[in-house]
Amino acid sequence: MAPRLSGRVAIVTGASSGIGRAIALAYAAEGASVMCSDLQPNSREEKIKATHELILEQGGKASFLKTDVTDEAQVEAVVSVTVKRFGRLDMQAFKIWTEINTS
Ligand SMILES: NC(=O)c1ccc[n+]([C@@H]2O[C@H](COP(=O)([O-])OP(=O)(O)OC[C@H]3O[C@@H](n4cnc5c(N)ncnc54)[C@H](O)[C@@H]3O)[C@@H](O)[C@H]2O)c1
Repeated sequence: MAPRLSGRVAIVTGASSGIGRAIALAYAAEGASVMCSDLQPNSREEKIKATHELILEQGGKASFLKTDVTDEAQVEAVVSVTVKRFGRLDMQAFKIWTEINTS
């Protein structure tokens, strides 16, 4: 079956670990170019290859941009860098649940 996301571009936040990493790898496996964004490129808990490096190694298209999703300016930056780098943006997967201290 042909990849379903060929030519599409996605941003995945929290892409270095857990659910975000799984989403990024799944998008790439379906042919999407993936901008992996996270606080750091490597998984916090496991000694494994960074998500964007694994995608590139498997022949996909990916990049990493350090992004803190609690910072509006950084979120705007990841959108503009993604469009600049891949030419478009079709999908965003914001897979982070963050407790924001409002006190
Ligand atoms: N795994 C589950 O079954 C499950 C179920 C329900 C809810 N959740 C929630 O979903 C979220 C993701 O779960 P997970 O298992 O993938 O967690 P995880 O810790 O494996 O991955 C979260 C990723 O988000 C990144 N991150 C954290 N804060 C960030 C920020 N401010 N900006 C950018 N990146 C940031 C981390 O560096 C990490 O790479 C968690 O908040 C978790 O509580 C998980």
